[in-house]
Amino acid sequence: MPDVDGLNENKEFFVDVPVSNAPFFLKGSNALDWGMQNRLSRIFTPASGKTVMLAIDHGYFQGPTSGLERCDINIVPLVPFADALMLTRGMLRTTIPSSAGKGVVLRASGGPSILKELSNEQIAVDIEDALRLNVSAMAVQVFIGGEFETQSVHNMTRLVDIGNRYGIPVLGVTAVGKNMTRDARYFRLACRICAELGAHFVKTYYVDKGFETVTASCPVPIVMAGGKKLPEYDALEMAYRAVNEGAAGVDMGRNIFQSEAPAAMIQAVRKVVHENIKPSEAFEFYQGLKAAEKKTFAK
Ligand code: R5P
Repeated sequence: MPDVDGLNENKEFFVDVPVSNAPFFLKGSNALDWGMQNRLSRIFTPASGKTVMLAIDHGYFQGPTSGLERCDINIVPLVPFADALMLTRGMLRTTIPSSAGKGVVLRASGGPSILKELSNEQIAVDIEDALRLNVSAMAVQVFIGGEFETQSVHNMTRLVDIGNRYGIPVLGVTAVGKNMTRDARYFRLACRICAELGAHFVKTYYVDKGFETVTASCPVPIVMAGGKKLPEYDALEMAYRAVNEGAAGVDMGRNIFQSEAPAAMIQAVRKVVHENIKPSEAFEFYQGLKAAEKKTFAK
């Protein structure tokens, strides 16, 4: 029986303090259930509202991509600097320590290799396996304007239905066909379709003109895709512009693991994304770390 003597209701119940009812920190995500929000918080850092995802899923359609030949040697040392990893279940199980403590965005679509029509993908993972792996999200390519557009959209909507059932967010990845114009108009279309049909966040490419209209017209968070390897300064500038034009972070692959100094590069990207430092400062930071890395290896 609880002690009733000396009960001070005002003190114990804080009756004059309203119960906190803070909104969730990511746009478009307030109506999501607790588990879904918790998983998104393993990808996006609540303090900054942003993420640095390291994309290493390229092998699912193009085999051992340059820089990913030996993920145990080249990628595992970068893991501590990422907020989340985007990868296949094969690479996750075989190579990434289960104790890494990072968000996992699981590649959940696949099928064709680079030798075939890439848009002809299907769902490539069972929800039970995604749950077994304790993933934070599932990622699916959406080929708007591609030959198998409807099939890829259907892959996404099926994953969204399954993800909603079990509390696993879905990342819609806007995949651009070879002959398509990469402009704001195209990405507004593709991102909006992903969000309208239920994607919880969207990955898309940066465009020099009008990227802010892509982020503004998409009701869920957008992460910027890295794309082909650029000089380090340019990649840092692209990340800076993207987050200042509304992106909730980046999902970079080649611009990190194909860099001359991948560990230095991912740390510089973090500075841009989480601390909003200018590209020139970030590049200086990168060069400093790169020089230190070289010295260590020279010893
Ligand atoms: C996109 O189609 C795949 O998810 C890629 O494997 C990944 O996003 C590519 O990353 P990045 O373009 O930064 O190398």
